[in-house]
Amino acid sequence: MPATAKSNGPSHATPVELVRRREPVQIGLRPASQLGKSDLLVLGVYADGSLPRAAQPFDAALDGRLRELAKQTDLPKKVGETLLVYYASGDTARRVLLLSLGPRDEFDGKAYHKALASAAQAVASSSTRSVDIPLLEVSDAEHSTAWRVQQASRALADGYYRFAAPLFAAKVSQENAPTPQICLLVEDPITPELEHAARSGRAIAEGMALTKDLGNLPGNVCNPGYLADAARALGKEFGFPVEVLEREDMAKLGMESALSVGKASAEPCRFIVMKYFGSEAEEQPIVLVGKGVTFDTGGVSLKPGDDLDMMKYDMCGAASVFGALKMVARLALPINVIGIIGAVENMPGGRASRPGDVVRSMSGQTIEILNTDAEGRLVLCDALTYAERFQPAYVIDIATLTGACVIALGAQTSGLFANDDVLADELLQCGADTGDRAWRMPLWDEYQEQLKSNFADMSNLGGRPAGAVTAACFLSRFTKGYRWAHLDIAGTASVNGERKGATGRPVPLISEFLLKRAERPRA
Ligand code: BES
Ligand code: MN
Ligand code: ZN
Repeated sequence: MPATAKSNGPSHATPVELVRRREPVQIGLRPASQLGKSDLLVLGVYADGSLPRAAQPFDAALDGRLRELAKQTDLPKKVGETLLVYYASGDTARRVLLLSLGPRDEFDGKAYHKALASAAQAVASSSTRSVDIPLLEVSDAEHSTAWRVQQASRALADGYYRFAAPLFAAKVSQENAPTPQICLLVEDPITPELEHAARSGRAIAEGMALTKDLGNLPGNVCNPGYLADAARALGKEFGFPVEVLEREDMAKLGMESALSVGKASAEPCRFIVMKYFGSEAEEQPIVLVGKGVTFDTGGVSLKPGDDLDMMKYDMCGAASVFGALKMVARLALPINVIGIIGAVENMPGGRASRPGDVVRSMSGQTIEILNTDAEGRLVLCDALTYAERFQPAYVIDIATLTGACVIALGAQTSGLFANDDVLADELLQCGADTGDRAWRMPLWDEYQEQLKSNFADMSNLGGRPAGAVTAACFLSRFTKGYRWAHLDIAGTASVNGERKGATGRPVPLISEFLLKRAERPRA
């Protein structure tokens, strides 16, 4: 076959080719009283020079010299600042990473997350094989030891994340570094609950790594077909079924709205359904719906060119559904979770939707497409209608939906919308517990008026005021049959600038929600 004939059609590489398998970091637990020798000791130091309780046996064994060391060095005082020092003990020099914790009574959950994230960076770049970390205490009483273990485990494993697609290998350092062994030293007895917390934290980080990998892959690699292959690969790895609907299947179901977004792309749309059934009882599933726009040019309502490369991250909602499912499957949680992804590429071109076009959604409601750049809701509405068939306990959609949400909440906080207060409160709490926070926004009827159309049941454009709210209001017209929440992660899923990359959010929040559900008492 001539080379040209081969290169014409749409193509995608297989996931295994592009994202290397990495050995996850090992994270274990040890009683603090059991001393050992590692390459690196991470030593938290409070502002008054005192050490965490779990570090005291170490210090005692060295006749208080660790405390002395912490006092003598000029460790910067801000929470999370670190200083690597060498400490000669016996015949080898041991490295000690001093970690500044600030005043003991102000070291709360938030500070804990901050300190650990920064320690994780320092640990991961220290290229040591074995690391001992006496667990830090927190001042606020609501945080249990299990919480401290889980958060530490997640932060440390996440610190080792490197985007590791071989195509971009030149950028990856520490290529062949051995799998590091991290040990958390705890003062309490090591219970199965604590072991589970350590394992969960690592599994969440593993899920986040998948989410980041998929997000960071460029649009010419991670297209709808690639996402479908990645889903099949995940299903195969963990033994759950994955269904991929092709364009024709979607058309038969009446998904004209979702299909309209991908019409001008050379990469055909896919509709991906992953089904994890971990509960033996026939329990209603949690359905996670992800926006999988693998590149968003805006279509005919073309976006301006500045930072347009960031629109490869417009599938981060989908990527977080992958990440959450991987976490659930890794831990074999006894719950049912279904992941649904509308995977499309939003391109301009001769077949593209025009502003003013009217399409019929799978629900039967018609939509006037006033702006082809408001494409996420066009994809999600059909996925949300499809979700009904699973008689879900809850549906949570996750989407990089609006620039307006970035204006409202910035890069710190995801926008949360819900038609159910219990669900909303629970998600907010999960966000607070994990430091992956969301803030609830209104879904009031007053806003629905902005979606009026003279030519269809609704338009896909609510105008500039309250853009994140009207986008959510649009979705709410398709979620009347179940309890539903929507997370707008346009600001939180990726960062631009020097540290450009996917963040793995909101995998911690969603994971926490699913972990709690797995633990809840059943009738
Ligand atoms: N993918 C964008 C939203 C987005 C913006 C994500 C910035 C991440 C960073 C979405 O499809 C979009 O283009 N939304 C439009 C909607 C508007 C046309 C109603 C927007 O926010 O401008
Ligand atoms: Mn758009
Ligand atoms: Zn988009």
